[in-house]
Amino acid sequence: MVPDIKTPLPGPKAQALIDRDAKVVSPSYTRGYPLVIDRASGVAVEDVDGNVFLDCAAGIAVNSTGHSHPDVVKAITDQAQRFLHMSGTDFYYEPQVRLAEEIAAVAPMQGRVKSFFGNSGTEAIEASLKLARYATGRPNFIAFLGGFHGRTMGALALTASKTVQRRGFGPFMPGVFHAPYADCYRCPLGFTPETCAAECLDYLEHELLVHIVAPDEVAAVVVEPIQGEGGYLVAPDQFLQRLREITKTHGILVVDDEVQSGMGRTGKMFAIEFSGVQPDIVAIAKGIASGMPMGISTARAELMTWPPGTHASTFGGNPVSCAAALATITLLREHLIENAADVGAHLLAALKGLRGKHRLIGDVRGRGLMVGVELVRDRQTKERASEERNAVVTGAFNRGLLILGAGKNSIRFSPPLVLTRAEADTAVRIFDEALTDVEKAPPR
Ligand SMILES: Cc1ncc(COP(=O)(O)O)c(C=O)c1O
Repeated sequence: MVPDIKTPLPGPKAQALIDRDAKVVSPSYTRGYPLVIDRASGVAVEDVDGNVFLDCAAGIAVNSTGHSHPDVVKAITDQAQRFLHMSGTDFYYEPQVRLAEEIAAVAPMQGRVKSFFGNSGTEAIEASLKLARYATGRPNFIAFLGGFHGRTMGALALTASKTVQRRGFGPFMPGVFHAPYADCYRCPLGFTPETCAAECLDYLEHELLVHIVAPDEVAAVVVEPIQGEGGYLVAPDQFLQRLREITKTHGILVVDDEVQSGMGRTGKMFAIEFSGVQPDIVAIAKGIASGMPMGISTARAELMTWPPGTHASTFGGNPVSCAAALATITLLREHLIENAADVGAHLLAALKGLRGKHRLIGDVRGRGLMVGVELVRDRQTKERASEERNAVVTGAFNRGLLILGAGKNSIRFSPPLVLTRAEADTAVRIFDEALTDVEKAPPR
């Protein structure tokens, strides 16, 4: 039965492990609640005390095919028995070539593309930044407020999500400028997604590129089509279309950060496809290999002409991760993208349906199985309900539902793409109960 909570949380075995962790593991990790996983299958996660949770977090939008999908496990096992590593940087092996071919077949741009392999989202961004500079000969980048692109020093310079992620780590890579992102719910000017296209990028076009940085010195704009850590904010199609027009005018590349939104999560292979916009480079990670480490920077072939020695990674494109990614792509194509679109629409509608019942719900938004709920203290002022958000996430956990916060006051539903409609209904029921409790007894 999912969920099935048998002990107060954390249970005794979980608490013992948390105590050991506190002594030896970096305290920089953000642990929203004390989940200590023992095993998992599909959307069910069992902790070390035998409690079973319904997973709508998927290891931060990673376990796309569900936990330990048998096809993925078999692909990993088969590859592990052949060989574990041979550095695709120095040698050749078929799984890496085949994965590059598969990515070329699904990449959100027409024409030939080539792929660089790393191990994580931040490495996919680092590779994209280096390639953009190398290919254009230009030094600067534009990113968006609220964006999250990773924590290594190049990617961190773009990240403008929470100051805790940057505080104490500066100075950052120079040459990064930020512009406001399309947050239609909070737009101070009251624009709608339709009018946003005409207005929202005015700062970028008429201020930033006029007063601060010359367009012919900008290598790339880096953008998430749906901001993930920023609060599951969906950029209107028109925003991305106008961004593409501006960048085209000035020969600026578009780096599409699909680390969280990519690989079927939104009901399309890549979220940018909704807008019809074609990027120059796409950064892929998280869902690509169902939980095995993998980060890919895929670029139009005419851009990826950097010669041997310019960029490489010992572990990047590890054959076991490639095998997992190939099995993942097969499952996505067979039915999981379709399922994400169908169950995602069902989940979105059900969560929107709770709006009439719960004063805390300000906005419900998303695409496919990338759904965010923004909690506010007052719908008029949109005052952010951050403590309430944290209390709802904890309340859901205590009832056996794994969800995560995003941004200051949003909750994200990013389940494995195998979630069924019935499981989505269970998630919504538990969320409803957790919200009811917090509304009855607010944490302030
Ligand atoms: C959009 C986006 N880009 C980049 C990253 C960084 O990925 P990683 O944590 O694998 O380095 C993340 C991680 O959450 C992300 O959501």
